[in-house]
Amino acid sequence: MAEPLSYKTIQWVGGLDGRVEMIDQTLLPRDIKVLAVEDVETLWEAIKNLRVRGAPAIGVAAAMGVVLGVRRVSDPERFFAELDRVYDYLAGSRPTAVNLFWALDRMRRRAQALRERPMAGIKEALLTEAKVIRDEDATVCRAIGDAGLPLIRDGMAILTHCNAGALAASEYGTALAPLYRAHEHGRRFKVWADETRPLLQGARLTAWELAAAGIEVTVICDNMAGRLMKDGRVDLIITGADRIAANGDTANKIGTYSLAVLAKAHGVPFYVAAPRSTFDFSLPDGSAIPIEQRSPDEIRRGFGCLTVPDEAGVYNPAFDVTPAELICGLITERGMIEPVDTRHIRDLLSDHPSSG
Ligand code: MRU
Repeated sequence: MAEPLSYKTIQWVGGLDGRVEMIDQTLLPRDIKVLAVEDVETLWEAIKNLRVRGAPAIGVAAAMGVVLGVRRVSDPERFFAELDRVYDYLAGSRPTAVNLFWALDRMRRRAQALRERPMAGIKEALLTEAKVIRDEDATVCRAIGDAGLPLIRDGMAILTHCNAGALAASEYGTALAPLYRAHEHGRRFKVWADETRPLLQGARLTAWELAAAGIEVTVICDNMAGRLMKDGRVDLIITGADRIAANGDTANKIGTYSLAVLAKAHGVPFYVAAPRSTFDFSLPDGSAIPIEQRSPDEIRRGFGCLTVPDEAGVYNPAFDVTPAELICGLITERGMIEPVDTRHIRDLLSDHPSSG
């Protein structure tokens, strides 16, 4: 089977005059609407407001955004200055998922390598590069699925947080990839999906895509996970990641850290699945990972209904950092990193361009 689901989270349609098409994830599960994006401003807004979200998908979107941003530049003298402007503009959309910066760097390196070529050729090469980034992500996610497959056994209950599935990547996703591969192998298991306050990526997106794939899924409020673990009803936890420091400290959706602490207290194995493009080797540990602060209105009047009085403050960090020592293993396209520490990470991923 080439892919677990029939929809495309994000893709480029046509040639250089074409467009980006993405599922508008803010509308799920009520509406399945494909958004056509033809300019970099609309693409920026789509990343900022989570129409496209999840670290690998944000990287793919940013790469395609570079093409949208430079394809109509007509003055060859201005091309590289415009490329830098588009880079900075897209880099300002969301700060935590390092895949965004990884993809932007890769696009800029590609253009710079062709500096002496005619501008039309550079534009075509950038489009090709963006499509390659998208296709490579699909291959990488499938490999993550194979690396995590041995963890999934018949009869298990697996808990996940936020959405690190096909909607968060090109195909398969990261945390959900082992589940899709296990499902393809005929293994039977069930999934607990944390609803994931405040934007409900678990309830709206993970539940939607797992159910569409025919995998049994049950949504719980975030504050129910501890009780389930205490009752022995969670065998395994797998989450995705937005940025992993050189020592394995992992930034992921807010609430991941609490889950990892609960998992430790109850002896539940806690794993993180991520591609190499999510590792930030410039940071020795997680203390300097930038954490996105989002609008208080996502909590105060989430989905249109006032739930916090205007007189009260609201604190809304989108991510937290789970220390490496709480993580049993990192599931990557190169295989499992276990135990999680600087040496084991470097041993498996050291030829990654950003690993220095
Ligand atoms: O704010 P979001 O929805 O972009 O957050 C997404 C997550 O935290 C995911 O777990 C992470 O990006 C990994 S996606 C494969």
